[in-house]
Amino acid sequence: MALRTIREMGDPILNKVCKPVKEMTPRTAELIEDMFDTLYESNGVGLAAPQVGILKRIFVTDVTGEDPRVFINPQILESSGEQTGNEGCLSVPGKTAVVTRPNYVKVGAYNEKMEYFELEATELLARCICHESDHLDGHLYVEKAEGPVMDVSELVDNEEEEES
Ligand code: NI
Repeated sequence: MALRTIREMGDPILNKVCKPVKEMTPRTAELIEDMFDTLYESNGVGLAAPQVGILKRIFVTDVTGEDPRVFINPQILESSGEQTGNEGCLSVPGKTAVVTRPNYVKVGAYNEKMEYFELEATELLARCICHESDHLDGHLYVEKAEGPVMDVSELVDNEEEEES
């Protein structure tokens, strides 16, 4: 198990556009393993490679704790509907804001074996895929915040908080 340091807002690497992955290498496979270790250690639901300082188009998600997924060179092929709710980010620790995202997305990507797949996702996984895809283009959710970016402690207890 190897944890990577999570870059935080203000670090210019988070605003750069990531490069496509051409082939799976031992180094990239290790990166993906470390990203999962770092995600679980942080109790997040998604993590993108630039958040650990690597400018590759890779993100990992696990919105249930039992659903690990790897997305390499992802492309959102379709989206529809909308969901409005609180969002957070491991690179913006302790903060949350309301963001509206599509409620459905269809994404095409490659897995850790560089096999192409398409996935339809709704609700939290759809939100997470949109949030992580934005990271690969150098964007943070705070740019899309509707209203103030608040401290998580200001949220009332029954609101759900997810960080990615
Ligand atoms: Ni994030």
